[in-house]
Amino acid sequence: MWLAVVLGVVPLLMWLFWQWNNVWYELITTNLRSSEGGTNLPPGHMGIPIIGEMFTFLWYFKFLRRPDDYINSKRRKSVNQPEALRRIAATVQARMISALESWAKRRVITSYKEIKKVTFENMGMFFASFEPGHTLDMLDEYFVGLVNGVRSYPINLPGFAYYHGLQCRKKAVSIFKEELKKRKNNIENGSSESVKDLMDGLMMLKDEEGGRLSDMEIVDNIVSVLIGGYESITLATMWAVYYLAKYPKVLQKLRDENMCLKSSKNEQFVTSDEILKMKYTMKVVDETIRMANISPFIFRTTTKDVTYKGHTIPKGWNVLLWIRYLHTSPENFIDPLCFNPDRWDVSMAPETYQVFGGGSRICAGNMLARVQVAIFLYHLSTRYKWELVNPDAKIKYLSNPKPEDGAEIIIEKLDL
Ligand code: HEM
Repeated sequence: MWLAVVLGVVPLLMWLFWQWNNVWYELITTNLRSSEGGTNLPPGHMGIPIIGEMFTFLWYFKFLRRPDDYINSKRRKSVNQPEALRRIAATVQARMISALESWAKRRVITSYKEIKKVTFENMGMFFASFEPGHTLDMLDEYFVGLVNGVRSYPINLPGFAYYHGLQCRKKAVSIFKEELKKRKNNIENGSSESVKDLMDGLMMLKDEEGGRLSDMEIVDNIVSVLIGGYESITLATMWAVYYLAKYPKVLQKLRDENMCLKSSKNEQFVTSDEILKMKYTMKVVDETIRMANISPFIFRTTTKDVTYKGHTIPKGWNVLLWIRYLHTSPENFIDPLCFNPDRWDVSMAPETYQVFGGGSRICAGNMLARVQVAIFLYHLSTRYKWELVNPDAKIKYLSNPKPEDGAEIIIEKLDL
C-alpha cells in the first residue's frame, strides 16, 4: 500500500500542485472561455499556487547568478513561437539547397543577386504560396520598382522613380487581389480553411468584435511585409557570406557546430528544434546583422511640440534615432568593426543593439530573418567552401550597404 502511495498518489498530488494554476484557469474558471471553447490564455506555466515562480526566479538570480537566463529560458519556450519556427524551417530549405547546388555548378556567382532570387521565392511561398514561375517573376520585377520608389524623391510624374514605384505597387496589388479572390471563391465552394501562409492567416484574422480585415487591408499587409522583408533578408545573408569568407576562423567554428549537427542526423533538412541548438550559428547571425547595419536609422514623428534639452521639436517633425551609431560605437562594443560572434557570449544591453528597432514598432520579421539566415548558413557551411572574388571591393552605402560587386564569390562543394 505504501508503495502504491509513493508511486501513485504522491506524484499525482505533486503534479496537481504544479499544474494547479493552469488547471484552475483552463478548466474551472468559466468566464474566461472563448466562443470556440478553451480559454485562449497566453502560453506558459503559471507557477505553483501562492508562490508562483519564485523558486525558479531565485534559482537563476540567487544561486546560478545568471539573471538573464531566467527570462531567456521563457523566451526560448514562447517568444520563439515553435510553430512559426517549424513552418519557416519546412518552407525555405528545399529552395536554398537547390540554389546552392546550382551555384556550385556555375562556380562563380554574385551572391547578392542569387540570394535575392532565392529569398524572393521563399517569401512568395511563405506569404501567398506562389511557386516559382511567371507570376513570381512579375512580382519580383514590380517589387524592385516599388522598393526604388520608396527610396526616391516623391515626384509623382512619369519618368521619375517615385511614379514608377506607384505603378509597380498597383500591379503587385492586383496580383495579390486576384489570388485573394480565388481563395474566397474556394471557401465559398466549401474548400477547407486551413492556414498555410500569411494570406490565409490574414483572411482568418478576427478582431474582438469578430470583424475581419478588408481585402485591401490584407493585401496592404502582405505588400508591406514583403517590402520590409525580402531586401533585408537578402542583405543579411549576403553579409554573412561576405564576413565568413573574410574571417576563416569564425567560419571554421560555425562549420564545426553545423557538421556536428549534420552527422547526428539522417535528414537533409534542419528542424526547428535543431535551430534552437545552433548557438554559435545564431551568434554569427546576430553579429552579421550588427555589422551590416541594414537600417542605418529609425524615426518617429512627433505628435505634439516636444521640449528636449531646452530645444523645441515642433509637432510633425521626424526624430531620427541613428541606430548605426549604436552598433559601431566603441562605447557599446569592444573593437566594433571587428566581426566577432564570440562577443555574443554575454547578452547585450537592449539599448546598445537595436538592429530591429524597438518599442511597439519593432521589426515584425526579426525572427523570420534570423532563422532564415541561420538555416542558410547551416547548408552553406556543411557542404560548400567559397571565397570572395574581390575581397577589397569598395562598399557602397546607398541605397543599401553592399560591396560594389554584390559580393561575387567562387563556390565549390566541400571534399567530404
Ligand atoms: C535582417 C533583417 C531585417 C532588419 C535589419 C530589419 C530592420 C527593421 C527595422 C530597423 C525596422 C523599424 C523598427 C522601428 O521603427 O522601431 C523594421 C520594421 C519592420 N520590418 Fe524589418 N527588418 C528585417 C527583416 C524583416 C523581415 C524579414 C520582415 C518581414 C517578414 C520585416 C518586416 C518589417 C515590418 C512589417 C516592419 C514595420 C513594423 C511596424 O511599423 O510596426 N523585416 N525592420
